Amino acid sequence: MNLILLGLPGAGKGTQAKKISQEYNLPHIATGDILRLIAEEETPLGVRIKEYLDKGQLVPDEDAIMILKEELKKIDLSKGFVLDGFPRTVYQAKVLKEMLAEMNTQIDRAFYIEADPEKIIERIAGRRVCLNCGHSYHIKYNPPEQPGICDYCGEELVLRSDDKEETVRKRIQIQLDELKKITDYFQEEEILEVISGGSIEEIYAEIKKAIEGES
Ligand code: AP5
Ligand code: MG
Repeated sequence: MNLILLGLPGAGKGTQAKKISQEYNLPHIATGDILRLIAEEETPLGVRIKEYLDKGQLVPDEDAIMILKEELKKIDLSKGFVLDGFPRTVYQAKVLKEMLAEMNTQIDRAFYIEADPEKIIERIAGRRVCLNCGHSYHIKYNPPEQPGICDYCGEELVLRSDDKEETVRKRIQIQLDELKKITDYFQEEEILEVISGGSIEEIYAEIKKAIEGES
C-alpha cells in the first residue's frame, strides 16, 4: 500500500503519517524531516537548503526529487510506504508517477487533510518536535508523557526553526495555490480522499476507514 498525505503546514501530515506507519508497518518518508537534517550540515547543499527552509520557500523540484529517489532506494517497495511532504508541486507528482511506474508500482491513495489556516498558526506555535525520530507533539493537543522529552526515543523536543509565526504565514501562503493544483491532479487520477478536520483521533479514524475500504 503506497500512500500520500497532503495538507497545509500544520494540517497534521506528520502526526497522521506516524500513526499509519506504526499501525500498518509502512516506512514513513518525510521530505521535510530529511531536508531539516541536510540543512544542519556544513556542506554547499546544506547551506543552500537552509536558505529555502528559513525563508519558508519550497526547495527546487530537482532537490526534492533527488532526495525522494534516494529514500525510495532504501526501502523494500513491495511493503509499501507513506509519503509526507511529497509531492509539493504537480511536476513532482508527475515525476513520482513515472518513477513508480518504472518500478511496477503506483500510488494507491492520496489523503488531503483539510485545515483552517488560522487554526494552523495556533497549532504550530504549540508544536514541539523530535529531530531524532521525527515525532511531533503539541503542548496542549498532543503532549508527550514527560514534558520536553520524546516518548519514542527519549531525545529532547525542540521548536522547529521555520515555525516562527511570520515564516509559518509565508509557508501557508506559498503552498495554498500549489496544494489546490495537486489535489485537482489527484482528483483526476481518482485516488484523492478528502479528510475534513477534527481531532487527531477523528482524522485518523477517517483515514483508517478509507484504508480498510469501509468508506
Ligand atoms: P514539512 O516538514 O513537510 O513542513 P510543512 O508542510 O510546512 O508541514 P508541517 O511539518 O509544518 O506540518 P504537518 O502537516 O506535518 O503537521 P504536524 O503533524 O506536525 O516541510 C518543511 C519545508 O521543507 C517546506 O516548507 C519546504 O521548504 C521544504 N519541503 C519539504 N518537502 C518538500 C518538497 N517535496 N518540495 C519542495 N520543498 C519541500 O502537526 C502540527 C501540530 O499540530 C503538532 O503540534 C501536532 O501535535 C498538532 N496537531 C496535528 N493534528 C492536530 C489536530 N487534528 N488537532 C490539534 N492539533 C493537531
Ligand atoms: Mg510535518
